[in-house]
Amino acid sequence: MTELTSWVPEGVDLERPSAARLYDYLLGGAHNFAHDRELAHRFLKAQPNAREIARHNRAFLRRGVLFMIDHGVRQFLDLGSGIPTVGNVHEIAQQADPGARVVYVDYEEVAHAHSALLLADNPLADIVQADLTRPGDVLGAPATQALDFTQPIGLIMAGVFHFVAPDRDPAGVIAAYRDAVAPGSWLVFSQFTRDLMPAEMDRVVEVMKSSRDQMYPRGRAEITALVDGFDIVEPGVVPTAAWRPEPGLDDWADPRRSGILACVGRKR
Ligand SMILES: C[S@@+](CC[C@H](N)C(=O)[O-])C[C@H]1O[C@@H](n2cnc3c(N)ncnc32)[C@H](O)[C@@H]1O
Repeated sequence: MTELTSWVPEGVDLERPSAARLYDYLLGGAHNFAHDRELAHRFLKAQPNAREIARHNRAFLRRGVLFMIDHGVRQFLDLGSGIPTVGNVHEIAQQADPGARVVYVDYEEVAHAHSALLLADNPLADIVQADLTRPGDVLGAPATQALDFTQPIGLIMAGVFHFVAPDRDPAGVIAAYRDAVAPGSWLVFSQFTRDLMPAEMDRVVEVMKSSRDQMYPRGRAEITALVDGFDIVEPGVVPTAAWRPEPGLDDWADPRRSGILACVGRKR
């Protein structure tokens, strides 16, 4: 059965589940369809912690944005931004400084359409529908060009590089964004790994083969190499729940169960 609602953008293939809509469902959002929910239930079977993993990734993203704000960053390029949910980057940033500017980037139709709707009245936030593995398309888009590249930019690559296949040259892609921004810019990065829960991760990779977003987990050493050119701040490349957790908010008895490795670094 196909659901038709007024916010479904034209051209979206409802039969083919996407990572954006799966993640939306895991976070309790409403912008997903029957096939996405079916995928989510198989994902949850493969990785029963999936909802907590999503929440901890989202909480890490929030702490990373606040960290960059504390370090003076007022403009952000959020690559693989997803379907807006609670605690979006522009909300966090503009609450701290109403003049903060945010450019979101996602290639998924629902993520783009819903972001565009949400940001229609926000002159300092915009969405670019593009494939982040084509940095020229992203960096050349008018919305991105509105950022001031002579000043530090907060690059955000949260929960997205596990969708970037090795043959898309992930290191080269990250380097292209790093080279485009001014020294003193920041990177907030997180991605799935086999290091923490290998059996569950292997099952998840299998499940995601039936979606349009295949998954490529990476180990700590590989992630450290990917973020070359950024000085990684303490505590280094760690599970999301262990990255500067806020007591009372981010508690998890075993942070390794957060499944995703995260780090924050400053461009030299
Ligand atoms: C799991 S969500 C993460 C959302 C958000 N960054 C967060 O951490 O809460 C991953 C998003 O990346 C997007 N994505 C994956 N590969 C992409 C690519 N090559 N270009 C643009 N977006 C991509 C997906 O469509 C999805 O919306």
